[in-house]
Amino acid sequence: MSQIENSNSSRREFLKHSGRAAAATTILASAAPKVFAGEDNTIRLALVGCGGRGTGAILNAIEAKNGPVKLVAMADVFEKRLDFSYEHLINKDIIKSQGNLLVDVPEDQKFIGFDGYKKAMDCLRPGDVVVLGTPPGFRWVHFTYAIEKGLNVFMEKPVTVDGPTSRRMLELNKKAIEKDLKVGVGLMCRHCEARQELFERIQGGEIGDITMMRSYRLAGLTGSAAVGPKPEGANELLYQISNFHAFLFLSGGAVSDFLIHNIDESCWMKDAWPVKATAIGGRHYRGDSVDQNFDSYAIEYTFADGTKLFMDGRTMPGCHSEFAGYAHGSKGLAVISSAGHSPAKCRIYKGHNMDKENLQWSFAARESSPYVLEWFDLLDAIRKNKPYNEVERGTMASLVTSMGRMAAHTGQVITLDQMMNCEHEFAPGIDKLTMESPSPLPADKDGKYPIPYPGIIKKQEYLS
Ligand SMILES: NC(=O)c1ccc[n+]([C@@H]2O[C@H](COP(=O)([O-])OP(=O)(O)OC[C@H]3O[C@@H](n4cnc5c(N)ncnc54)[C@H](O)[C@@H]3O)[C@@H](O)[C@H]2O)c1
Repeated sequence: MSQIENSNSSRREFLKHSGRAAAATTILASAAPKVFAGEDNTIRLALVGCGGRGTGAILNAIEAKNGPVKLVAMADVFEKRLDFSYEHLINKDIIKSQGNLLVDVPEDQKFIGFDGYKKAMDCLRPGDVVVLGTPPGFRWVHFTYAIEKGLNVFMEKPVTVDGPTSRRMLELNKKAIEKDLKVGVGLMCRHCEARQELFERIQGGEIGDITMMRSYRLAGLTGSAAVGPKPEGANELLYQISNFHAFLFLSGGAVSDFLIHNIDESCWMKDAWPVKATAIGGRHYRGDSVDQNFDSYAIEYTFADGTKLFMDGRTMPGCHSEFAGYAHGSKGLAVISSAGHSPAKCRIYKGHNMDKENLQWSFAARESSPYVLEWFDLLDAIRKNKPYNEVERGTMASLVTSMGRMAAHTGQVITLDQMMNCEHEFAPGIDKLTMESPSPLPADKDGKYPIPYPGIIKKQEYLS
């Protein structure tokens, strides 16, 4: 049995026998070096960015049942978001049934404002875990303080939005590695057992040499990618944060937020990062939207050996929908994902048609949630003091995604080197924002934000 298969089957066992898992890991943990805080082996969590995903990540940490965890502090820029998240969590059956054992956040450990992240992390001890669930524009700021405090981290994807923040993240991560901090990045598909087995099969030659890959995230309106003008009297920065997919300095836009998983899983199967990208894209129905996104993107990535990955993304109602990824090889076709993130339903076909009679392999077991598996793996590394740091991989995935976006937005061929060395930082000084700060991306006199002009603005994605 390979190493991956071995660790997967033990993960499956843990997840299946969750009660036993909790007891077993407590015993294991007490025998292992003590790399997490708390006399009782409880790993304490703080949540920074209490939105949909941050709240979900806390639940996943609990569902992983890899020893005791407890949420003790929360921070957000909106009180209502924090309150909603807290109420949602304490009313979940799995949490409610255990009193305040899993979520125990007193009022004085709930923090509102741009400096809330520091206060929430100050409630933890070295070895505990901070969950970074804000828009990615703030990731490097929050990671800096987590490293200073000696905290383990779970950070959502993307982890950077442009060239300068990618370089900064890689540099920062050297300190995290020096301190042996365990850092998970929310590219959860990497933890999916079906994709892990598919990777081994592809590397083992089952589809021959990969000759071409293609991936699609074609949907209707998605998140806040297209957004109308700021309501009269609203705080501009907070309006932008509430609609963060619309603004590149916060999210990297629709490409970075929505396409990164597809791009990352394809690059994983190829076991390489592409060296350049060309892309086309446009905005068909702008209406009164003031965001910075196109509504369709077609990116062509090229790997060092010349192999191509074609990535299509669209957020336009009424069109064909597809959310899937494929790798074509000299012997056949691999389905990397079928309809969203999970279940992946990975398969291998002889030839390039997905006909039943050509099916050569499909993942046999029921797929566990990759959102829970990524937490199982992070907690396992913390409890057993195993090296665990996904930041470099997460940064490269973020950078490669930005490379495709920049190629579309400028209309130029963008190389990985160019993207890495790009000097356009979308929001210098984002670490100094307060509730009263002007936005790093102010609207013009008509309430509109700067948009890309491919072929006209060529050296950076927009002028501000
Ligand atoms: N892995 C996945 O499948 C997945 C799915 C959804 C979202 N995400 C990622 O999770 C992140 C958040 O996405 P979401 O959908 O939960 O968004 P969201 O808007 O629901 O949540 C973000 C929260 O962060 C808060 N926030 C913003 N700036 C802050 C700051 N400086 N300090 C403290 N709080 C701040 C917002 O008020 C909001 O409550 C994004 O990076 C997104 O790409 C990942």
